Amino acid sequence: MKILVFTEKPFAPAAVKAIANAINAAGSEMKLVEGGTREDFIEAIADADALIVRSDKVDAPLLDHAKNLKVIVRAGAGYDNIDLDAASARKICVMNTPGQNSNAVAELVFGMIIMMCRNQYNGKSGSELKGKSLGIYAYGQVGRNVARIAKGFGMKLTALDKFVSDAVMEADGVTPLHDVKQLFSENDFVSLHIPATAETRNSIGYDLVMLMPKNGVLINTARKEVIDEAGLIKALGERPDLRYVSDIKPDNSEEFEQKFAARVFFTPKKMGAQTAEANFNAGVAAAEQSLAYLKDGWNKYQVNKF
Ligand code: 3PG
Repeated sequence: MKILVFTEKPFAPAAVKAIANAINAAGSEMKLVEGGTREDFIEAIADADALIVRSDKVDAPLLDHAKNLKVIVRAGAGYDNIDLDAASARKICVMNTPGQNSNAVAELVFGMIIMMCRNQYNGKSGSELKGKSLGIYAYGQVGRNVARIAKGFGMKLTALDKFVSDAVMEADGVTPLHDVKQLFSENDFVSLHIPATAETRNSIGYDLVMLMPKNGVLINTARKEVIDEAGLIKALGERPDLRYVSDIKPDNSEEFEQKFAARVFFTPKKMGAQTAEANFNAGVAAAEQSLAYLKDGWNKYQVNKF
C-alpha cells in the first residue's frame, strides 16, 4: 500500500522518521512531498492508497486524480481544509487525530498572551495574568489544555461550548457560560477554539469585541475565517485599549498592522501545532490510523459519512 504524506509546512525531521518507520514496519511504502505545488500534489496522489495532510487543501478536483485513495487522515484537529462531501462521494474515509497537537496550541496561547501583556517586550511596563479572567470559546481538547495551564497562572476561568456539558467544565474548575455576549463582556482575555464552520465563519466581529472590558485581549489560535475582519478593525479603531493576537495572518494583516501597530501580532504561518512533540504525536497517529483503516477498516475518528 502507498501512503502519501503531503505537507506544505513540513513535520519536524524526527516526526518524519517515526512516520516512515511506522509505515515501513507495516509493509507499506511512504511517499513524502514537503512544500510541493498543486501539480506535485496531483501527480503524487495518483497511485496513493492513503493520504496524510496537515492544513493542506484537499478538494474535489484533486480527488478526481486519486484513483486508489481509500483514506485521508488530517494530522491534526481541524478538517475545514478537506472537502468532506467530495470524499464521501468517492467513498473515501476522512479522519482527524484529535488531541495529538492540542497541548502545543494551548501553550502558544499563553506565549501570545504574555507577549501582548508585556507590550511585545518593548521595555514598557505591562501587566500580569494572575487574578485576570479568561474566557475559553469552545471546550474541546485545546480549550481543556488552555484551562489546565491557566490554573497555574491563577486565572479565573469560564468557557462556552454548546456541545460540552456543564459538568465537564465544572470538574475542571471552569465556570460554564451559555451566552457568547457574556463570554466577551466578562473576560479580560477571550481565547478562540471554535472550528471554522458555516455557523462560525465571520462570527467574531464588532459587536462582540466591543463588549470586552478595558484592556481586553482577543487571542485567536483557531482559524482566521471565524473573524469578521472589518468589524474587528472598526472595534480596534474605536477602542485604543483593545488588542488582538492571532496565530496566522488575517487577510487584511497590513491594514491591522498599519493602524494598530503594537496592539496586534500575527504569526507568519500557523505555528500552534508546529512543535517537535505535536508533529511526532499527530504524524505517527495519522500513520497508524491510515494503516489501521487500510488493514481492517478501523475508523474511530472518521468525520465524514458515506
Ligand atoms: C489543527 O487544526 O490541528 C491545527 O490548526 C494545526 O494545523 P497545522 O497542522 O497546519 O499546523
